[in-house]
Amino acid sequence: MVTAVAQRLLSQRKQVDDTLAHFSLNRDQLRVVRDKMRVELERGLRKDSHSSASVKMLPAFVFQTPDGTERGKYLALDLGGTNFRVLVVKIRSGIRKSVRMYNKIYAIPHEIMQGTGEELFDHIVHCISDFLDYMGMKNTRLPLGFTFSFPCRQTGIDKGSLVSWTKGFKATDCEDHDVVDMLRDAIKRRNEFDLDIVAVVNDTVGTMMTCAYEDSKCEIGLIAGTGSNVCYMEDMRNIETVEGDEGQMCVNTEWGGFGENGCIEDIRTKFDREVDEGSLNSGKQRFEKMTSGMYLGEIVRQILIDLTKRGLLFRGRITEPLKTRGIFETKFLSQIERFISTYTLIIALMHLQSLGSTCDDSIIVKEVCGAVSHRAAQLCGAGMAAIVEKIRENRGLEHLEITVGVDGTLYKLHPHFSRVLKDTVRDLAPKCTVSFVLSEDGSGKGAALITAVARRYCGGAQQQYLYSMRFSDETLLEIMSRFRRELEKGLSQDTNPTATVKMLPTFVRSIPDGTEKGDFIALDLGGSNFRILRVKVSHEKKQTVQMETEIYDTPEDIIHGSGTRLFDHVAECLGDFMEKHKIKDKKLPVGFTFSFPCAQTKLDEGILLTWTKRFKASGVEGMDVVKLLNKAIKKRGVRFTDIMAVVNDTVGTMMTCGFDDHRCEVGIIIGTGTNACYMEEMRHIELVEGDEGRMCINTEWGAFGDDGMLEDIRTDFDRDIDRGSLNPGKQLFEKMVSGMYMGELVRLILVKMAREGLLFEGRITPELLTKGKFETKHISAIEKSKEGLSKAKEILARLGVEPSADDCIAVQHVCAIVSFRSASLVAATLAAILTRLKDNKHVPRLKTTVGIDGSLYKMHPQYARRLHKTVRRLVPECDVRFLLSESGSGKGAAMVTAWAYRLADQTRSQTFNSGMSSVTPI
Ligand code: BG6
Ligand code: BG6
Ligand code: GLC
Ligand code: GLC
Repeated sequence: MVTAVAQRLLSQRKQVDDTLAHFSLNRDQLRVVRDKMRVELERGLRKDSHSSASVKMLPAFVFQTPDGTERGKYLALDLGGTNFRVLVVKIRSGIRKSVRMYNKIYAIPHEIMQGTGEELFDHIVHCISDFLDYMGMKNTRLPLGFTFSFPCRQTGIDKGSLVSWTKGFKATDCEDHDVVDMLRDAIKRRNEFDLDIVAVVNDTVGTMMTCAYEDSKCEIGLIAGTGSNVCYMEDMRNIETVEGDEGQMCVNTEWGGFGENGCIEDIRTKFDREVDEGSLNSGKQRFEKMTSGMYLGEIVRQILIDLTKRGLLFRGRITEPLKTRGIFETKFLSQIERFISTYTLIIALMHLQSLGSTCDDSIIVKEVCGAVSHRAAQLCGAGMAAIVEKIRENRGLEHLEITVGVDGTLYKLHPHFSRVLKDTVRDLAPKCTVSFVLSEDGSGKGAALITAVARRYCGGAQQQYLYSMRFSDETLLEIMSRFRRELEKGLSQDTNPTATVKMLPTFVRSIPDGTEKGDFIALDLGGSNFRILRVKVSHEKKQTVQMETEIYDTPEDIIHGSGTRLFDHVAECLGDFMEKHKIKDKKLPVGFTFSFPCAQTKLDEGILLTWTKRFKASGVEGMDVVKLLNKAIKKRGVRFTDIMAVVNDTVGTMMTCGFDDHRCEVGIIIGTGTNACYMEEMRHIELVEGDEGRMCINTEWGAFGDDGMLEDIRTDFDRDIDRGSLNPGKQLFEKMVSGMYMGELVRLILVKMAREGLLFEGRITPELLTKGKFETKHISAIEKSKEGLSKAKEILARLGVEPSADDCIAVQHVCAIVSFRSASLVAATLAAILTRLKDNKHVPRLKTTVGIDGSLYKMHPQYARRLHKTVRRLVPECDVRFLLSESGSGKGAAMVTAWAYRLADQTRSQTFNSGMSSVTPI
């Protein structure tokens, strides 16, 4: 008899143990979870895999944690956790640094959570209204930070469209809608008060910020509550779904979705599947359903039902409460696990659940709870280990010390969860020391801090005007296709007269082929320096190039004076050069890089269409610059062979780079001005006769937009720059992009921000108001990653302002936005040229080289990388090599001259034989 009972008990014990064994994960299994989480984190960050990643890695548009200088009075909403709260948060900075909060909790009835979107937002606004009445604040238009604890795809700090509801919410017509817009609309509908909605924030982000206000090492936010989620500060360069490479941005991982692609099926149990099937979002949030408060009780209930059905519990009787979904709340789980004495446990169980349990039953129930919560804590620990390891690797550290700010009822109330979580992290991420700090004040405080920062840099300034300087890839693709149409318009004979992008034939028909040789003079006029060079190309075994260079001044009064004086000056410098280099008596062929738009009918003719950039000498537009220079040279009596070729600097650059890389078929300048040339098929160039082969086209893309085509992306600053320029209404693209204008653009923005009190405590100095005082080279200095901020301080001090640390950060931010816009725009137009080349060649992938020159591209610390990255994103079907022209465009001009000279030589001998006379272009 005794044996039978013992055996029954033993068998019962074994069956319970076997059931719970599925919840016990060993170290190896946890390591696998950690590693899979890491894979999904990376997939979520990468552009190509983002859409299929189960961990969405949503950019949060929070660029830094608080630094203690935040201040002001804010309203905050906290929606999505156990409680819906409305708060007022008052933040003081300086020595009286403090945060005071007043809040009220409101209920969100079940039928509203799952009603219509309009009902939900009307209810929220109703609660805000009540709160404002209660606080007597209805008439103040407070800035609002909105903690919205659901996955949102953000495109700015105040824009976020709901990806999908999670947890207990399921209101209709909200998914894919902007939650800020929905809140604004509801405020309008109520028409009682107004709010300035500045930021929408996930609860993990709010929590991280709340904790980071006290502990600057806090760069991770964890919620282990109704839901489960993590955010952390990621390096911008790793977030491929957002433009920009510098600094950091907070990423809301939405790790609750981990496993949606089936990658953790091996550890999911049949109970997890049952819970999932009975949930509002079946198939979704699989990790969350194994780790968070909303579901742990449900898992326990499913196990209890199973054990009861098998006669192992409650004498096999399934009571009504046990059948009720949601009856087993997580707080019960915490309570049950906290009870030490079986007696109190039985009482509690009977009381809470009317489950009518015995002593044995209650022990089993406690074990079930323990198994489920232990697994949850371990899984969170494994996920956290993946995050901290990623951060450690990002920073190239042997050892990382970091703090996680945590909130959520599960973490706060459960007796063992936090310990197991910490132990697991320690075990799985041994190279990281991770401290966990509990968020005492909820995420509302963090949302207010974010609002304070966003309002200072974005809400005020960036929101209104800087924001419109950031382009999404969609916008860039649109600009790319507009430019592509302009290219085609410029190439066609019928539409060329009205095209802004002039697509000028250059009569250069191929890149250097290695046979060029000779001794040449190259003039290089139109960039930031006027250079004269002697270029010797020799051919002993290998082609080698030797160059001697002098730089000459081009004073303002000369470039703005008469054309005759300008060319006299050039001739004078040439005379000086020949004397200095002892070649006065040599008749060297001359190649003339003239970096302005010229109409050509042959290589040695260039009719200046219009001055651009800094030049404005009279009597030159409409004239052949070769003739003008010849005349000036003759006047001086300098001996020389004719000017053999006039080339644009883009063409010179393409040829210089083509010398080293035969694939080079595009030349770009991003310097004082900006422009590009590329090799087009002759059959498409209607302005030149002949269909065979290719010819280089100088696009003169600087004029893109002169017909109003870019008005939707130009800002008031761009219009100001244009009005104050030497050529109003012209070169509108160039004025948004190139070095001659960028510094001025930043200066205008700083003045406006200062006027609005957003910078320098509203002080404006005469220097700051002086045109040209802020140069493009200053942007390059300020954007340097290490010494950038101290450079900003130095440069601003020279403008007479005493910048605070915040001012320096804001100015750096402005510089980054302006230079980033430039790189993005060039990427779009270059991408159009690349697709054109690809289509011309009828190849599925284009492999090509782009030769580049110009001070902005060369000097700016981030420009090149941003440009390359954006181009690769816009035209993934092109493999582009960017080749910096190390030796300027003079070398390329000499290559063209060599060709022209050789052909002229041949023609001369033919002419001699046949009596014909003309210079055939190459
Ligand atoms: C609160 C935060 O303290 O914790 C909320 O203020 C957050 O923003 C919540 O959503 C998470 O915990 P729970 O358990 O309420 O979901
Ligand atoms: C130089 C080229 O390297 O770059 C010039 O030799 C060109 O021909 C110039 O005009 C463009 O850059 P920037 O910055 O001097 O206008
Ligand atoms: C859910 C939400 C997420 C939130 C978490 C914690 O996982 O999707 O946005 O952070 O719950 O509340
Ligand atoms: C201006 C000129 C163009 C030149 C470019 C770069 O856009 O019009 O010819 O290539 O500047 O220097």
